[in-house]
Amino acid sequence: MCGIVGYVGAREARGILLAGLGQLEYRGYDSAGISLLADGRIDSVRAVGNLSHLRAALAEGDGGAVATQARPATIGIAHTRWATHGRVTEENAHPHTDTGDRVHVVVNGIVENFLELRQRLEAAGCVFRSETDAEVIAHLIAGHTGEGEDLTAAVRAAYRELRGHFAFVALCADDPELLVGARKECPLVVGRGDGEQFLASAVPAFLAYTRRVQLVENDEIVIVRPDGVEFMTADGERLERDLIEVDWDAETAEKGGYETFMLKEIHEQADAVAETIADRTARGDGIDLGELGAIDDELLRGVRRIVIVACGSSYHAGLVGRYSIEEWARVPVEMDVASEYRYRNPVVGSGDLVVGISQSGETADTLAAMRLARERGATVLAVANVMGSQATREAHGVLFTRAGLEIGVAATKTFVSQVAAMYLLGLRLAELRGTLAPERLTELVGQLKQLPHQIDALIERAEAQVAAVAEEHWRDQFFLYLGRHVGLPIALEGALKLKEISYIATDAYAAGEMKHGPIALLDERTPVVCVATDSPVLEKVISNVQEVRARGAHVIAIATEGNATVAAHADQVLYVPSNDWMLQPILAVIPLQLLAYHIARRRGLDVDQPRNLAKTVTVE
Ligand code: AGP
Repeated sequence: MCGIVGYVGAREARGILLAGLGQLEYRGYDSAGISLLADGRIDSVRAVGNLSHLRAALAEGDGGAVATQARPATIGIAHTRWATHGRVTEENAHPHTDTGDRVHVVVNGIVENFLELRQRLEAAGCVFRSETDAEVIAHLIAGHTGEGEDLTAAVRAAYRELRGHFAFVALCADDPELLVGARKECPLVVGRGDGEQFLASAVPAFLAYTRRVQLVENDEIVIVRPDGVEFMTADGERLERDLIEVDWDAETAEKGGYETFMLKEIHEQADAVAETIADRTARGDGIDLGELGAIDDELLRGVRRIVIVACGSSYHAGLVGRYSIEEWARVPVEMDVASEYRYRNPVVGSGDLVVGISQSGETADTLAAMRLARERGATVLAVANVMGSQATREAHGVLFTRAGLEIGVAATKTFVSQVAAMYLLGLRLAELRGTLAPERLTELVGQLKQLPHQIDALIERAEAQVAAVAEEHWRDQFFLYLGRHVGLPIALEGALKLKEISYIATDAYAAGEMKHGPIALLDERTPVVCVATDSPVLEKVISNVQEVRARGAHVIAIATEGNATVAAHADQVLYVPSNDWMLQPILAVIPLQLLAYHIARRRGLDVDQPRNLAKTVTVE
């Protein structure tokens, strides 16, 4: 989740842009850059590392002209990069430019069809200088300005050729008083000043200068000049946008207007899944995982067994992976918590693919389990969210989730992006091993691509309902969570969320196992949360719900929209949108995250930094 800032006005842009980047540091980043236009020339400085490196590069005058332009630039764009495509290098840092250095762009998000666009542009003579997907936008726009179109028309034309999940701002040397931005899903906001205007990924970037904000809606182009801002569709239809006054303090602004980072990150889950699957599902009839380094198609085709090792929420995401990989690709999958795996002298070696899942990429037990497997000859794949993290260096290949920086200790958006990564791996293995009919594969890829919108709609709809359930149960001292088959990892994850942020004792169990002991825990006060979404074992789950009800316990069920059978057996039902039964877990976890969240808030607890917990567990 990169950070974008743009400024045009009468003041010196450099300081304003650097301050704006400083306000977006909370989004996390690994490199940064700035482009400033003065005297008809755009000059750029980019640096790997945090903002101090960019400031140092600027101070050293590395930018030559930028540091020595006759008059300070009053227009510019800047960027903090959270690498998704291409390594953490200066060349891959933004802003990116066209071959002639006339058009500079800063981009947040993913361009799904960048490969085909790049091939076409290179064939047309464009010289690419980075490994990123974002650079195609600069060349596309320049191509259109080269045909005499002004920047606005060029951006609109380029926008129509782009597919994906992104927002960008463009600057052109031929138009020293104009910034043009575009939004497709990823956030973009305008800060309105007097004789000056701001563009950014988030309000904090310009809150120190103005509280007058306009939101750029989806599929919109925004044209920004010192004296005004226009909105239009990609086809040129003019639009009006409300001006809103934000009264956030800096801390609330960092949280995007949400009361906590955890709630902000819950609301970022659609983006996290969309970016994680974007270009990997672009083909529509299969999955592209070309970025797995030494782990190529031939190796994936020949894998004898998969072993997934992880901790905490990542372990639960791996469990969803086990069910989906075995179901779709018919490869045996073994699963273990890393802190056990590393000491159990496991039988592992060549022919085995060991998948280490860790959002931080720094969890000691998971790293040790990956290292052990590698030493014993297994191929190691890391599923990580942080580029450059230790896990990415321990593995033969990396499947990156693209959730952006997660500040709340309780994993939410990283969890759903890990589950999405498991689905990608399962479907790719099935495609390579021919274990799914092409039509079924295409159907599943299509359903996977529906998830981001379903997640957004679900969060919008469910939050108030879940808060009402939380209001009834925040005083309860024990919760039991039940699930079966691929619903079990979600029950485990829901229970972990409640444990770690509300400190309430919870237990989570395979529903079929309950009668072998934990049923003794139940009485008429016990809230029992059942993951009862549509699946081949739903009937079994319903009979377990009946066992629970027979002991007087209070059942809160997660069920699939349109399926009324569960409601007949539960006290309260939280519905999630319908999708393929194997994909339902990524939806079913959301009401459970919200339930834990609202119970913890009702108890007045700090959900972002729960007691006794660290975001990354690097201790043995
Ligand atoms: C989950 O909410 C917790 N923060 C914790 O269980 C976490 O999932 C675990 O420590 C693993 O972290 P990792 O994904 O960074 O390896």
